[in-house]
Amino acid sequence: MGDNMSELLNVKNLKTYFFTKYGTVKAVDGVSFKVDKGETFGIVGESGCGKSITALSIMRLVPDPPGRIVGGEIVLEGEDILKISDNEMRKVRGKKISMILQDPMTSLNPVFTIGIQLEEAIKIHQGLKGRSLRERAIELLEMVQISSAAVRYKNWPHQLSGGMRQRVIGAISVSSEPRLLIADEPTTALDATIQVQFLRLLRELQEKTGVGLVFITHDFGIIARMCQRAAVMYAGRIVETGSVRDLFDNPSHPYTAALMRSLPKLEEKVERLASIEGQPPPLNDDIQGCRFAERCTVAEHQCRLSYPDETEISDGHFVSCWKF
Ligand SMILES: Nc1ncnc2c1ncn2[C@@H]1O[C@H](COP(=O)(O)OP(=O)(O)OP(=O)(O)O)[C@@H](O)[C@H]1O
Ligand SMILES: [Mg+2]
Repeated sequence: MGDNMSELLNVKNLKTYFFTKYGTVKAVDGVSFKVDKGETFGIVGESGCGKSITALSIMRLVPDPPGRIVGGEIVLEGEDILKISDNEMRKVRGKKISMILQDPMTSLNPVFTIGIQLEEAIKIHQGLKGRSLRERAIELLEMVQISSAAVRYKNWPHQLSGGMRQRVIGAISVSSEPRLLIADEPTTALDATIQVQFLRLLRELQEKTGVGLVFITHDFGIIARMCQRAAVMYAGRIVETGSVRDLFDNPSHPYTAALMRSLPKLEEKVERLASIEGQPPPLNDDIQGCRFAERCTVAEHQCRLSYPDETEISDGHFVSCWKF
């Protein structure tokens, strides 16, 4: 067991690389963070910085080849899930961890009713049959606020609106009563109103089930709305971690500060975070120093020479920058 009773997930120095003919792509290169039971932890960063690969690593679903987890630990409820067999991992995946994918519209199978799909998910985990299985499926649909759940249960995915389909996916993802739910940009494909509804639903599901949530997004507004703590990722690494308050009131890494400055006004549709001058470096480049140095307005000689250690600048607020 872990030494900390409230700790759900502890990712330590995770490294996930892709071995391609263009070289080694260090998609995740030494990522560490912790999530407490029942907490919502955000991971935020520009496109291509390694958010989804971090999530897939936790699920142990990185496409191999060309990808491979080459280092680190992923400790879930005290157990390093990188050490268990594939078979045991399949059970963990079904039972303890669940994931909502970046493109939710493709997650439902068009040729089965939503009732059948929900029942399949429940059956695997809870061994229910017949009437109690159906009752549980309808209960879950009610929990995600599908009205006339007993009727909707017989619908095919195409008969539901986008928002309803997203709710069904929410129901399926908590049907195993997971301890950890990873939501990888679950709302990017949705319009603003449905997005707000789905975020509210996730929060409610969390309150009801006590599931720990890792919420991945490129949108700081969503981080503010959903998370207690968050990590800012840049080019395969976490550059700053802290409470959402720390990050908003005292963004300390120059990258975080730049992201904050580029924040659109509330409720404005968020484009990919692109208003910072320049581009992230290709992840197959061998960079010794800070990966943000090229775009950083306060970078000095030291920043290009070696990577800065993580410094705790206030309680629970960590930054990797030579300024500290
Ligand atoms: N199969 C693969 N082969 C080679 N490189 C890959 C592969 N899959 C992902 N990568 C690389 O890993 C890096 C991280 O990708 P990832 O999908 O985690 O980004 P992301 O932060 O989720 O971006 P987005 O916000 O666009 O979803 C990218 O540079 C990507 O090119
Ligand atoms: Mg992604």
